[in-house]
Amino acid sequence: MKNKVIIIGCGNVGMSYAYALVNQKTHVNELCLIDLDKNRVKGEVMDLNHCMPYSPSKIDIKVGTYEDCKDAKLIVIAAGANQKSGETRMDLIYKNAKIFKEIIKNVMKNGFNGIFLVATNPLDVMTYITWKYSGLPTRKVIGSGTFLDTSRLRYLVGDKLGINPKNVHGYVIGEHGDSEFIPWSNVNVGLQNIDDFLSDHEKKEIENNVRNAAYEIIDKKGNTSYGIGVCLVRITNAILGDEKSVMVVSNYDKNNDVYVGLPCILGRLGVINKIFFNLNDEETKKLQNSIDVIKEAINKIN
Ligand SMILES: NC(=O)c1ccc[n+]([C@@H]2O[C@H](COP(=O)([O-])OP(=O)(O)OC[C@H]3O[C@@H](n4cnc5c(N)ncnc54)[C@H](O)[C@@H]3O)[C@@H](O)[C@H]2O)c1
Repeated sequence: MKNKVIIIGCGNVGMSYAYALVNQKTHVNELCLIDLDKNRVKGEVMDLNHCMPYSPSKIDIKVGTYEDCKDAKLIVIAAGANQKSGETRMDLIYKNAKIFKEIIKNVMKNGFNGIFLVATNPLDVMTYITWKYSGLPTRKVIGSGTFLDTSRLRYLVGDKLGINPKNVHGYVIGEHGDSEFIPWSNVNVGLQNIDDFLSDHEKKEIENNVRNAAYEIIDKKGNTSYGIGVCLVRITNAILGDEKSVMVVSNYDKNNDVYVGLPCILGRLGVINKIFFNLNDEETKKLQNSIDVIKEAINKIN
């Protein structure tokens, strides 16, 4: 089966995703790269193709054009401005909304009918815009949302307890941004609740570290890329492998008319269903606050 993926925006994030793809076993067998910087794309394609003799997957990698979108199964968008030191994700809103309008128009006029996976910030707003501009059903448009933040949470808890992060279960939910939070009442190590392992003070410290991780990395190295690259591959494999896995990505919330990071079931059709879970009163308030932050940002663009 042909599983063509297009990356639009081949900077740090787009190329970390591409590099993670060629280093993992993946369902992707055709990869097209699109960026304003055509010369860079040519160089990136050459460089990636030289991985093929040792890659666990056989991928046909080439310079793409918008015509390639016609029969693509998945388009990953990582185009646009990134955060500079001291900037919030929301600060990027107007620049990136303008860029997206043009990109989505170019994709859709070529008859794309696959799934969009958005990585550009402010993430939940850009995902909403992609849905609006594309006219695709909500299930076919998702954003990486709090997937990376969740990965950071699992790593930090695992590191603190000396336990493999794969056995830490829980999510960061809400906006991929400053109002995101951890509903601790749902975090478990194996089947044991996190309260048996961590004090309130320790949980608070981990939550702050998760929320501030991007700021800290950007201060130190200028951008974040490897974490999101691997997260995007994990989401890609869940979709193209029709895994029906539960994943925390930015998906459409009909009640509030926003895209927001909440767990859902992902497969070849995109979002197959939502996964509901209990939040206590405080967590419910935090989620609504986060939704309101996203909604307010969407209204700014409207
Ligand atoms: N979702 C996440 O968890 C996460 C993590 C890290 C970064 N990001 C976001 O990802 C985005 C990209 O970050 P980056 O560090 O890769 O930035 P970057 O500047 O390295 O790359 C952006 C690329 O987009 C290209 N581009 C700009 N306009 C374009 C257009 N109209 N068509 C095609 N390509 C276009 C640029 O030429 C550039 O190569 C940013 O918004 C950043 O904040 C998200």
